[in-house]
Amino acid sequence: MEKINIVEVGPRDGFQNLKEYIPVEQKIKVIDDLIGAGVKHIQHTSFVSPKAIPQLKDAKEITQELLKKYPDFDFFALVPNLYGAKAAYELGLRKVSYVVSLSVSHNKANINRTHDESLAELKSIMDNYTDMNVCVDVATTFGCPFEGKYSTDTVVKFIDRIANMGVKEMSLADTIGVANPRQVREIVSAAKKEFPEIEFQVHIHDTRNMGMVNTLAAIESGITKVQSTLGGLGGCPFAPGASGNTATEDLVYMLNDMGYETGIDVEKIIEAAKYEKTIITGNFSGHLMNIQKGQCNA
Ligand code: COA
Ligand code: ZN
Repeated sequence: MEKINIVEVGPRDGFQNLKEYIPVEQKIKVIDDLIGAGVKHIQHTSFVSPKAIPQLKDAKEITQELLKKYPDFDFFALVPNLYGAKAAYELGLRKVSYVVSLSVSHNKANINRTHDESLAELKSIMDNYTDMNVCVDVATTFGCPFEGKYSTDTVVKFIDRIANMGVKEMSLADTIGVANPRQVREIVSAAKKEFPEIEFQVHIHDTRNMGMVNTLAAIESGITKVQSTLGGLGGCPFAPGASGNTATEDLVYMLNDMGYETGIDVEKIIEAAKYEKTIITGNFSGHLMNIQKGQCNA
């Protein structure tokens, strides 16, 4: 059986856009449920300016609590700059995702930096924290709200700049959910062919109901690590029109039923999504959370 690693990014991407503050205990309960269902990789918060993302102002507390509770678990946090990486490192976290957008205008809106500035800051993070595992999130790889879509060649050239810095892991993001399966196949295949030494993941938004097909297209092009969010929450406040990610529970159902090994229990992950909906007011785009218990295994 082919193994697919599902990387849950809901506690970061799913929560970051929600207006109503979710208390720490409830955030931890959602993460407990994810782990209980068999999820092995979780992006649990981001170390960003609380002015930019007020919902995640508790990054320090959440990180401390999770590292204490699950010392061996694969947690990681998004960071936009050296300041964020330092905060994460000092708490004992040894894995971060560093976000830089292929779109110059989105990078400016999101991170307030040019490409050169963002990449210089990435270098300082890697130089300062040599034992920190840094995955680079390439936002807007499949299209930008301000600039439209990019040629595969443009994507490959940008990846090349990052790869030359010694980065070993990258996540190709469809930040606003505009990709289509053919485009995903083309970009993923080109990236894997040009950079065989790099482990690529995809981060797909479901804005246009293409989350599942695009994620599957990536998997069928050789990707074995895919990001998703419980309940299909998600969206970037600095990318107009962005909405939820591919829903983890829907993805688990599809992959398990196709015979892929995710290691995640479909009933338990649906229960986790249902519980999340009782405590969080958000725009849930998952489908299986609306199905009654016991009816999910066709
Ligand atoms: N964590 C917490 N606070 C931070 C921070 C971080 N990683 N980086 C900067 N800050 C604070 C500074 O202390 C400063 O605070 P002050 O206004 O109280 O003095 C303020 O943010 C501005 O700092 P500066 O370095 O000048 O910011 P900037 O304008 O160059 O950069 C970012 C802005 C990157 C910090 C901000 O836009 C941000 O956090 N963006 C994240 C966006 C995001 O999460 N998007 C969704 C995920 S893709
Ligand atoms: Zn996202």
